[in-house]
Amino acid sequence: DWVMGDYITEAIARIREQVGSEEVILGLSGGVDSSVAAALIHRAIGDQLTCVFVDHGLLRMNEAQLVMEMFAGRLHAKVVHVDASAEFLGALAGVQDPEQKRKIIGREFVEVFQREAKKLVNAKWLAQGTIYPDVIESGGAKTKKAITIKSHHNVGGLPETLGLKLLEPLRELFKDEVRELGVALGLPPDMVHRHPFPGPGMGVRILGEVRREYAELLRRADAIFIEELRNTRDAATGKTWYELTSQAFAVFLPVKSVGVMGDGRTYDYVVALRAVQTSDFMTADWAELPYALLKKVSGRIINEVRGINRVTYDISSKPPATIEWE
Ligand code: XMP
Repeated sequence: DWVMGDYITEAIARIREQVGSEEVILGLSGGVDSSVAAALIHRAIGDQLTCVFVDHGLLRMNEAQLVMEMFAGRLHAKVVHVDASAEFLGALAGVQDPEQKRKIIGREFVEVFQREAKKLVNAKWLAQGTIYPDVIESGGAKTKKAITIKSHHNVGGLPETLGLKLLEPLRELFKDEVRELGVALGLPPDMVHRHPFPGPGMGVRILGEVRREYAELLRRADAIFIEELRNTRDAATGKTWYELTSQAFAVFLPVKSVGVMGDGRTYDYVVALRAVQTSDFMTADWAELPYALLKKVSGRIINEVRGINRVTYDISSKPPATIEWE
């Protein structure tokens, strides 16, 4: 619409004026905010923008591929894809504690990003998808889950370690406006309406020690759950269950239980499905998903993901449970 069109024109002019002919680097996460920031800045300055996509090996199924297709493929933006999974998983080996895992992932992220940033010797600007609620939040207390790769940690000052100027074109926008802007910039609606995904990714959805083998099993189970949520509509509202939930994912439980398959006994891992409805993520209700949907998801996971023989559904609300299991 014309209002958004005007907004884009103005935002582009502002970015060009700020940046001039200097180069900009941006950490692309696959999330809504960094994606929209990247699309907007790319529209403004084209090849003066270099996006760095750090793959920590704890992303969802096909995530890296989707990001590359969208930004490098369709938008023709400069994107550096860094597969740092070996480094991240190496640093996480043997570590069980959730906060310790968060710290390691945050630290590794900064290290990898910094290393890439140094290669772009001409970069003068660090772009971030900071949005208005992040600006507000950064003035207040940090939660137990605060992690350094969240953009709001950088609000109000330069990350000294990089010595770059900050470019934050979404600072005045609320989430809904960011989504609207994303659509207006030509990002696929599916991408701008994604559920939030935590920075540490599946690192906090694999309970205890993170192993590549666990991540692979979890990625496949999670993809089946999300696919069925997207494909199943609620008759009353006509909406999909993906739209009707605020966040949904699978969690890997590193315990084994006994099952039976054909003539044989299995002794395999468990996944828990988590789906919540919330407006602010401070409190949340577990979603009353239809039994038929749960049945289909559990049947598919157990049949298709060898190594998982049991699926449970999490019926805990927040509080006292949190949305994530770690
Ligand atoms: P909890 O588990 O605290 O989650 O109920 C509330 C929301 O925050 C997200 N979350 C995180 N996001 N880094 C992030 O970027 C984190 O370490 C982190 N921990 C939780 C969670 O996915 C939910 O949307």
